[in-house]
This record gives sequence, structure tokens and C-alpha cells, in this order.
Amino acid sequence: MLVNLKTVLSLAETGGYAIPAFNVYNMETVMGAVKAAEELRAPVILQVYPRLMNEEAGYYLSPVILAAAKKATVPVCFHLDHGPSELETTRAIRCGATGIMLDGSTLPFEENIALTRRVVDTCSYLDIQVEGELGHIGSTSDKEQDEFTTPEDAKTFIEKTGVACLAVAVGTAHGRYKKPPKLDIERIKAIRRATDGAPLVLHGGSGVPDEEIKKGVAAGVRKMNFATDICYAFLDSCQEELQRPDRAIAIDNFMKRPIEAVKEFCMTRIKLVAADGKV
Ligand code: 13P
Repeated sequence: MLVNLKTVLSLAETGGYAIPAFNVYNMETVMGAVKAAEELRAPVILQVYPRLMNEEAGYYLSPVILAAAKKATVPVCFHLDHGPSELETTRAIRCGATGIMLDGSTLPFEENIALTRRVVDTCSYLDIQVEGELGHIGSTSDKEQDEFTTPEDAKTFIEKTGVACLAVAVGTAHGRYKKPPKLDIERIKAIRRATDGAPLVLHGGSGVPDEEIKKGVAAGVRKMNFATDICYAFLDSCQEELQRPDRAIAIDNFMKRPIEAVKEFCMTRIKLVAADGKV
């Protein structure tokens, strides 16, 4: 069933686990992620980058996600990932998103607050909740991550914006890590304490050691993002398929194993964040 961000976050908060948020790119990755969630009875977030809601991909991918979510036997939230401005967040709402991320993390603090607050206000009329970002979570190809979210700023940001959850900079980055990252668990705990237990979001989940993710969830991470590793699961399987002498040529048949590979990967992450068996 299609649900909003608040619904899945409150399930996670009550149960003390994290909702896996899988970035999807095409029909096959949507199918793999939803099959995994259904098989393991887990609530799940399917999220897309803004570029996938623009022009052609926007016409095709959003209806696929909505159809899959509505048909699913578990709660599925359709979320915009890293919306940079009101143009993208409005477009996402028109595409049917039930959760919105406004990423103003590269803006000065007060501007991030003002922009995020405006989006929270607009979304509130539609019963859609917003994820904010404070402390820029960069890419693994950046020189070094030197920006970390402070508990004091997180408290002020949440109070002034009314976000439903907050993406924090605590040692992760997007992409493939050169060396496995170590999370600043004490910082996660301190942010939770300062914000009266606000649901926290960890970006850059691909390649973070399992033990670190478990500690992060125990400390208060309630939404855990995975994107890069979904791409690899899908593409590696496509490549393997192409090597098989008896491979299918009909594309729907060819895609069966790559869909299965995405499903298998998503199942490992659902179990890791302890979202399995929750619905
Ligand atoms: P990865 O691509 O590193 O898994 O990050 C996913 C993410 O945080 C999407 O916003």
C-alpha cells in the first residue's frame, strides 16, 4: 500500500529499527525492491533523484513506482531524494510522491532553514512530510568530509523547520568508499538526545560495514539509504546474463535474473536494519 513518510517513520520509531530507503532507477529495480520488502514483510521507501522526475524518465518511472506501491502488500513510501529547490519538490508532488527531501545543506544555515520551512508548510497541506539535511553529506570522490552536524544546530533546525526526519553528516558519503567509513556513533546519540529523539537519516549506505550500520540504527537512525549498491547488483547481473550462452533475448525474460539480484541485495539490507517481519 502507498503510505506517507510519517507512517513509515513512526513504524520505525515504535519498533526501534530503520526503514530501508532504496533508490530506484527503472521498472526492474522497483520490482526487485518491492519483491524483497513483500517477501520479508518490511515497510520500505522507494526514492528517486530529482533527475528521474524530469522530462522522459519522470513520465515513466513515477507511474511505475506508484503502481508497485499501491499493489504492494506492505507499506511503501514514494520519496523524492535530494530535492534542491521548490521546483523539484513541487514536481515530485505532482508525480505523486508521498515523502519529500529538501536538501538545502549547501546553503547558509538560515537560508537552509527558510527554504526547508517553506517546503514543509506546502507539503503539510497535502499530508506529505519532509526530510531535511543539515551538514552536507558529500560524495566519496570529495577530498575529505570535514563537515559534521552538531547537536545544537540539529535542535534549532528541527524546531524551526518542522521536518519529519533529518539527514545528518556523521561520517558517510555517497558512492563507493575508498576505505570503509566509521560512523560517529556518539554524535548520532548526542543529536538524538538534543532533538528529543528526532528520526535521523543516514545517507551513503553502500559499503558501510554491517556492524557500523547496526550501531547507527541502535543509536537512532530511522531511515537508511542505499543507492550505489543497487546499481551494482543490477548491472553486475546484467553483465553475467550477457555472458551466458543460453541467455534470453526477450528483454522481459532477460531481466528476470537482474530483478532477482536486486531483490537479493535488498533483502540483505532489510535484515541488516532489522525491518524484516515488521508488517
Ligand atoms: P549510496 O549511493 O552511497 O548508497 O548513497 C545513497 C544515498 O544516500 C542516496 O541519497
